[in-house]
Amino acid sequence: MSEDLHIAAGSKTERYASLLPQIRALTEGETDGVANLANIAAALKEQFGWLWVGFYLVKNNELVVGPFQGPVACTRIRKGRGVCGTSWEKAETLIVPDVEAFPGHITCSSLSRSEIVVPVFHKGEVVGVLDADSVELNDFDTEDQRWLEEIVKGIPGINN
Ligand code: SME
Repeated sequence: MSEDLHIAAGSKTERYASLLPQIRALTEGETDGVANLANIAAALKEQFGWLWVGFYLVKNNELVVGPFQGPVACTRIRKGRGVCGTSWEKAETLIVPDVEAFPGHITCSSLSRSEIVVPVFHKGEVVGVLDADSVELNDFDTEDQRWLEEIVKGIPGINN
């Protein structure tokens, strides 16, 4: 496909429904996992305009920052630390409506107000997380969870 992303307007459902097949088209046939994570982060940033969106990858029992879009971020996060490390430890998606109310939240940008972290699985193990941060309070809900969990399934080179 061409590298132009079609940016949809409308409801959250309409935007994700437009984006998901474009992400699949961008990544299918590309075996390099980092390349695919980079394009997924860029596509999400273009469509939703979040402050920060990207991946942390499990390396030597730590999360290490991977492809992302947004301000510079903390490089390493230990298991159980912050929203990302907690999502990894629990192997479940965390929706944080107000980051200041999340005990142990790691502040990478003082502009971040709400956050969602979605684990990326390979053969039943968490191999990374997708993290999105918004400047708006309460910007993420179970609909984001559902779509983002779908987006991180079957990424060629990561968990296909
Ligand atoms: N807020 C995250 C850290 C990563 S940055 O937001 C990009 C956390 O608490 O794990």
